[in-house]
Amino acid sequence: MKFFIDTANLAQIKEAQALGVLDGVTTNPSLMAKEGITGKDNILKHYVAICNIVDGDVSAEVIATDFDGMVREGEALADLHPQIVVKLPMIADGIKACKYFTDKGIRVNMTLVFSAGQALLAAKAGATYVSPFIGRLDDISTDGLNLITEIRLIYDNYGYETEILAASVRHTMHIIDCAKLGADVMTGPLSAIMGLLKHPLTDIGLAQFLADYKKGN
Ligand code: E4P
Repeated sequence: MKFFIDTANLAQIKEAQALGVLDGVTTNPSLMAKEGITGKDNILKHYVAICNIVDGDVSAEVIATDFDGMVREGEALADLHPQIVVKLPMIADGIKACKYFTDKGIRVNMTLVFSAGQALLAAKAGATYVSPFIGRLDDISTDGLNLITEIRLIYDNYGYETEILAASVRHTMHIIDCAKLGADVMTGPLSAIMGLLKHPLTDIGLAQFLADYKKGN
């Protein structure tokens, strides 16, 4: 399972990269705004800064909602760095743009996916990644993890190579559950990744080992 971090915060990206388990980064306009990154030029520079920190894929989202605008913005994003994956919204023009980019060999992450039908369309349009937002489904009392199960079944039925990128992961148990269900990738906050480390018996055991070592040395 690939681990992406879902942030535009460079310090957190560096921390996850230093841990040695990071496979990529996802961002979105809200995450950019949260870090105070505004204006087209600053946003583009920020994507390059992220690419220079990590080895893997970096999803960069278009703002346009029409086909021509998405193509224009997506091509500019893809030209920034070979690690960039163009992130497109799951709307009709987004699907058209997905097909356009994948035919040209430019990788796409279809975002804002909330149903199996949308995921099926993304796969047919050749998306590299499909991003079902599990946390936002949970927020409205709908089972986000069930969507991962449905998409896994459909993709396996037909051998679609589009990778299921579980997005809107909010906490550590989401990561474990997505791994059990066969998501190819998860993207979440650093806190959710670090939560995987925690176990009281590890801490107690380590403290005991160190104490016993000290007795004899
Ligand atoms: C995915 O690529 C999105 O950036 C993200 O996972 C959204 O998460 P949120 O629902 O916590 O905002």
